[in-house]
Amino acid sequence: MSSTSLWYATRASGIVALVLLTLTMVLGLATTSRIRARHWPGFAQQELHRRISILAVVFVAIHVLTSILDTYVHIGWLAIIVPFASPYSRFWVGMGTVALDLMVAVALSSALRQRISPRTWRAIHWVAYGSWPLAMAHALGEGTDGFKLWMDVLAGLCTVAVGAALGWRIVEHRTSSERARRVGAGTRAVPDRSAAPPAPPGWPAGGSRSGRRQPSATDLLTKDRP
Ligand code: HEM
Repeated sequence: MSSTSLWYATRASGIVALVLLTLTMVLGLATTSRIRARHWPGFAQQELHRRISILAVVFVAIHVLTSILDTYVHIGWLAIIVPFASPYSRFWVGMGTVALDLMVAVALSSALRQRISPRTWRAIHWVAYGSWPLAMAHALGEGTDGFKLWMDVLAGLCTVAVGAALGWRIVEHRTSSERARRVGAGTRAVPDRSAAPPAPPGWPAGGSRSGRRQPSATDLLTKDRP
């Protein structure tokens, strides 16, 4: 593969990875805020979030590999995991490396979810959301297309999507904290939207055959709820 082809592949895969990372963020925040399309089951949204995040990792892997194999600039294999180790564009490539490290951390912690405490998993998951602004800074600071209009429009759309999802999450968090405070104070019984629906006749309460409900990713991320 020629250096020019690798360069195009780096740019294309980087942009696809950034869009997929944005979708991962938006779906993750929407799931924890319990925003859902009508007739769209919660588990389907969670599954979509998981699958898109895996796809994002695949595109980041292609992006990184092609950028290292492109000998026009020297980045070096170490720069894949060690931040600011690249002789070429140390700072902006370093931002990309930190974003990648955070993505790897969340992928590993999710793979080991049964073995680590929910608290640790949750903490890693929240920190990992930091990968998005770092990847965005890296893309605009490092990318050839950073100053092109279409790239700025794309970056703007991604930022608006993440900003809206984050804003909704904050509002939802405040509302549920307020509800918890009111219920705690015993002023008024407020219906709990997060409660499981009543089990159908013949089924154990909680919805699983064992009768015990496993905590879902949403449960772990929304532990602050009443
Ligand atoms: C979450 C991780 C990452 C994402 C989402 C990402 C995304 C992007 C995007 C969108 C661009 C701009 C492409 C363009 O202007 O057309 C870019 C550029 C670039 N990235 Fe990444 N990147 C990530 C991590 C990394 C890492 C770890 C490295 C290297 C070790 C790297 C190397 C590069 C290079 C060399 C460019 C410049 C390509 C050019 O000449 O335009 N990236 N990246």
